[in-house]
Amino acid sequence: MSRLRRVGMVLARAFAAALVLPVPSIAAEVPAASAVVKPAQPVIASAHRLATEAGHRVLADGGNAFDAAIAVSATLGLVEPESSGIGGGGFFLLRRASDGHVVFVDARERAPMAATRDMFLDANGQPIPERSINGPLAAGIPGLPAGLVHLAERYGRLPLERSLMPAIELAERGWPWGVKNQAMIGWRQRVLEADRGARALFLPGGKPPAVGTRMRNPDYARTLRRLARDGFDGFYRGDTARRLVDGVRRAGGIWTLEDLAGYAVIEREPIRFRYRGAEIVTAPPPSSGGVALASILHILAPFELDQMAPAARTHVLVEAMRRAYRDRAIYLGDPDQVRIPVDLLVDPAYAAGLRAGINLERATPSELLPGISARPGSDQTTHYSIIDAEGNLASVTQTVNLPFGNGMVIPGTGFLLNNEMDDFSVKPGVPNAFGLVGEDANAVAPGKRPLSSMTPTFVLAPDRVTVLGTPGGSRIISMVLLGVLAVLDGQGAQAVADAPRIHHQYLPDTLSAEPGALAPDVVEALKAKGHTVSQGERNWGNMQIVSWWLSDGRVEAGFDRRWKSASVDEPTDGAIFR
Ligand code: GLY
Repeated sequence: MSRLRRVGMVLARAFAAALVLPVPSIAAEVPAASAVVKPAQPVIASAHRLATEAGHRVLADGGNAFDAAIAVSATLGLVEPESSGIGGGGFFLLRRASDGHVVFVDARERAPMAATRDMFLDANGQPIPERSINGPLAAGIPGLPAGLVHLAERYGRLPLERSLMPAIELAERGWPWGVKNQAMIGWRQRVLEADRGARALFLPGGKPPAVGTRMRNPDYARTLRRLARDGFDGFYRGDTARRLVDGVRRAGGIWTLEDLAGYAVIEREPIRFRYRGAEIVTAPPPSSGGVALASILHILAPFELDQMAPAARTHVLVEAMRRAYRDRAIYLGDPDQVRIPVDLLVDPAYAAGLRAGINLERATPSELLPGISARPGSDQTTHYSIIDAEGNLASVTQTVNLPFGNGMVIPGTGFLLNNEMDDFSVKPGVPNAFGLVGEDANAVAPGKRPLSSMTPTFVLAPDRVTVLGTPGGSRIISMVLLGVLAVLDGQGAQAVADAPRIHHQYLPDTLSAEPGALAPDVVEALKAKGHTVSQGERNWGNMQIVSWWLSDGRVEAGFDRRWKSASVDEPTDGAIFR
């Protein structure tokens, strides 16, 4: 009997007492337009006060939420360079108030055309340490600048130049280096030191700037001015493109001018589904987030989570996460290059099958669910959420991947390149302990987009519209899940952002909990069910969330106060509204 077959029989026995519950049909109670009061004021939550202010300035200048998004994106790339920037990529989930049109603008990086499946392996087929993380081969072709141009051309109201102006002026005038900037640079100093451009920008005098140091970046201002003047061509052709290709190739990279000129954003249909009377609108592949979120919430649909004791509730949450994360690792990748069974994975009937395998009394060991490991991913990346006074929505998560991306600034450009190539599976096709070959869906290939966990999301409930998201690598999905549940439990935006977090991602087979997330008796009850609990290990995430109450137009913002302790001199909390 094959090993897999034996595993199947073990599973069948383990699930003999499985729970099978009907999935209730959920009707959306969307209020009539006449019952909806427009937002009393625009609201923006971002990871940096200066970025939020840039967004408000553009709104005050006559822009809409999509123009404001351009301002926030470009400013975050300047003042929070460890997390995102125009050398990276992002996802823009948008909803237009006038007609309810929702769209997912995929501005994800893509692999250069000379990329190969084994480019990060040595002659023995082993991953070469750091090659997909630091230096020229780690960088995918940036998508964020094309995303900003696309927003301005398709959805904004202002010329791109006006929306980019706050970031341009800030780069010229200068801004104070913050505590979070400094905390992050500590992790990446060695890599930044190795690159002339990064050294000049981030290690003046050979060391990280002191908190409060006035930083200027005229090269970034000039790069943005070219983008503002010439649109797509202002980045992907001409002076910026030539500098980038020369610099990357001189350092040993494989970018070409054609890679840049051939980049295109893609408009995709968001993942949409119903849960507890709300419509959830979220990220489709090449993000894994929306598929996993839909799968988890469909598994959870019949459970009255708010009526359950904490240990029982945590148990079913973890079992749902375990199953969805397993599927994420096996099936998901770039939908333009691999066949992904999205319709199946987000089908409530499929989720019912997964739910049937949950034993309410016992944890299912992940090794009994044959699959492959999902790698943890980094805590960097950034998210912001916008609702404007007309009710337009923007939920945007953008990234350079690990802190300070690949650590390279091509001289004269003023921005870091990403290391998004590390979001590919660098060593696919190697059989796991159960003989399964996995991660092919996310293998490196020319022109391919690496799988992401970024999950910008809308929760459209009958009484309230919420825009949310967070950085946090593979933990993004579980954070957004907990955020959605808290919103539908009626919690305010700040309470949602504050709520302690738990996470399980199939492998490693460990339930992680932030300090204070689980009471000692709950931990004991979970251990008794067979869970391995890593309790109070650390905090994670940087959630930015805004809500609009439809009955009276009230708006509110919640920001992640986990970074509050790092914001003594220069607040990183950007959640303000006027
Ligand atoms: N680089 C983080 C993500 O895309 O999930």
